[in-house]
Amino acid sequence: MTHAQFSSAWQTVAAAQIRLAGCRMTELFAADPQRVARYTLQVAGLHVDLSKHLLDDAALAALLALAEAAELPRWRTALFAGEPINNSEGRPALHTALRDASPEPIVVDGQDIKPGVAAMHRQIADLADAVRSGRRVGASGQRFTQVVNLGIGGSYWGPALALEALHELATPDMRIDFVSNVDPAPLKRVLAQCEPERTLFLVSSKSFGTTETLYNYQAARAFMAGQLAEGVDRHFIAVTANPEKAQALGFAQDAIVTFPEWVGGRYSLWSAIGLPAAIGLGADRFAQLLEGAAAMDRHFLTAPPAHNLPLLLGLLDVWYASFWGFGSRALLPYDQGLRLLPTYVQQLAMESDGKGVDRDGQPFDYPTCPVVWGGNGNDGEHTFYQLLHQGPATIPAEFVVCTRPDADLPGHRRRLVAQCLAQAEALLTGFDAPDKPHARCPGNRPSTMFLLPDMTPQLLGALLACHEHRTFTSGVLWRVNPFDQFGVELGKRLAGTLERELGGQGVPGAAHDASTAALLDSARGRLGS
Ligand code: F6P
Repeated sequence: MTHAQFSSAWQTVAAAQIRLAGCRMTELFAADPQRVARYTLQVAGLHVDLSKHLLDDAALAALLALAEAAELPRWRTALFAGEPINNSEGRPALHTALRDASPEPIVVDGQDIKPGVAAMHRQIADLADAVRSGRRVGASGQRFTQVVNLGIGGSYWGPALALEALHELATPDMRIDFVSNVDPAPLKRVLAQCEPERTLFLVSSKSFGTTETLYNYQAARAFMAGQLAEGVDRHFIAVTANPEKAQALGFAQDAIVTFPEWVGGRYSLWSAIGLPAAIGLGADRFAQLLEGAAAMDRHFLTAPPAHNLPLLLGLLDVWYASFWGFGSRALLPYDQGLRLLPTYVQQLAMESDGKGVDRDGQPFDYPTCPVVWGGNGNDGEHTFYQLLHQGPATIPAEFVVCTRPDADLPGHRRRLVAQCLAQAEALLTGFDAPDKPHARCPGNRPSTMFLLPDMTPQLLGALLACHEHRTFTSGVLWRVNPFDQFGVELGKRLAGTLERELGGQGVPGAAHDASTAALLDSARGRLGS
């Protein structure tokens, strides 16, 4: 497709938005008794209702044509085939290969990567079994009962989310803690509670150069050295795509679990970064998580566009952000175990698609990646839903709720599901109060509803892979490279300089703006040099 064809497809979508701008979704339902059936999908066990959107068939057709014009099918094929679509770093993004159980080879740089992936998964499974069974023990011969994962961003959110979501399946005799940031408090708290002889630290970092993780590693190591008479090394495992750096920091080769460079940090749950989840849940359940993701991969690859869940969600994200100008979208799990889902998706979507230029370096003249935010839906009702219902901005909402029965606390889940459905209904229908403008809810606010029949590793894997492919889809339509994140580098560099200056090195404030220089001065006075 040429740029002109893309532009003309873009204009058709823009015209559809103008046509629908004054329309109410309740009218769309009234005009089409089949709307719910036609806009509901069942994919990999997930039941997803897309009927409450500011969308009709013509608008959907225009969006599908835009996807064609953006060459989504070609990009999708390139993604799965391992072509170097991360153009700024010249490498593929092959998270899908991590869960692809098919016998077909995937060739990168002339080599089939599948055997290496299988070996990595065998190593994860073996290590997880060894830790869980007590085959691998600490220096004093005691079995491990606590694992502490030191890692941040993609080296944290995925395994933490999986363990929380699937907590009922986790082994009760293994405590798993996560320490991510460099704030001293979380590490101090974990160290104060740990039994050193029974604690295994996983130092999880793709680059093995992330300051927060390395600070926490050095502190944890010093703590363990002070606690154990010998054998501190038995208590540390590095998980990384940069084994040379881990070795330089003292890890022996057999204490390093590697994964390939072509796994992006925020796409790395499926790699060795998932080790804490494999230890907590067991290798079989970790394999089921991969199976669920693989089912979503197959769906994304093969389902017709109009019935392709991640594709449609990605198109809706583009529709609302770029054509309606909605600047954020809310992710609202009605499930305590999915508490971290909004944060996980925040990294996935905003680090991937939050770019200022397209893949050819051209700035955008339309809004792209929205802010993704949210939190536990039921708590949110008593916190921020006021804004969703009556705030001046429309914020597309996405609900996720599990409909399995729960015999232990009868009535709770029924009430939870009722509240979730009620919120989506209220956003749609609104409430008219002609004499009381303060009580009026305008309604006509779009939402997606995910119903999960249960909380299983397969369903969670499918859900997370769905978010990955939806982010990829929107990225293709916005023409960004969703697999780099150069925007995070500047702050890291400046922090290095400021850290040295706070420590008394260099000329404080010399190269800073006046505000930063004054703050530096003030903080120095309190921190000491
Ligand atoms: O700073 C952003 C980032 O690079 C993320 O993309 C990544 O998930 C996180 O930092 C942690 O990186 P690493 O796994 O290399 O420590």
